Amino acid sequence: DSPYPTDIREYLYKILVIGDLGTGKTSIIKRYVHNIFSQNYKSTIGVDFALKVIQWSPDTVVRMQLWDIAGQEKFSGLTRVYYKEAVAALVVYDVTRPKTFEAVPKWKADLDSKVSLPGGEPIPVVLLANKTDLKDETSTSLDPEEMEQFCEDNGFVKWFGTSAKDNRNIDDAARFLLEEIMNRE
Ligand code: GTP
Ligand code: MG
Repeated sequence: DSPYPTDIREYLYKILVIGDLGTGKTSIIKRYVHNIFSQNYKSTIGVDFALKVIQWSPDTVVRMQLWDIAGQEKFSGLTRVYYKEAVAALVVYDVTRPKTFEAVPKWKADLDSKVSLPGGEPIPVVLLANKTDLKDETSTSLDPEEMEQFCEDNGFVKWFGTSAKDNRNIDDAARFLLEEIMNRE
């Protein structure tokens, strides 16, 4: 009898994190992967990478390869290269800056035009309304019904109000996205 488990399943998923400049993409990833936060803003140049390894179940390990794409890449033409073979994405906006919300459909359309699942369906995308620590959540811009309608209209599987600063909802959003990925396998 072998002392080693024979049926460990391992998955590697490429996940994109996109959205306008300064919305908190890097901060969300740093919070999720390293549990740290900094107020200092160092804009990402091009793309950064982070790996989060998750023991999903006793016999399943998931490696999330997070592609932290600079907000300024929106108009660079490089997104096609970065998006290649991604299986899911997070689109991040800043609840204190409506312009970053207005840009969300552009990011989504750019994504859908450049990447899809092997079967041709769009990749699952979760919308993150970030920096909720700075805003009263009862304000109209985060009305849950409106947000749900926005998700339906724009093809997001779900939205979460997050704060990288307060570590709010980031684990839940990531877990939800992983479930969506694994349900499509
Ligand atoms: P680019 O790389 O330029 O596209 O920006 P980014 O989306 O990676 O934003 P980044 O994570 O660098 O954060 C920008 C600024 O917002 C930094 O000063 C962060 O400290 C701040 N920030 C990010 N998330 C939060 C949050 O949840 N709450 C608050 N209060 N500040 C945040
Ligand atoms: Mg960044």
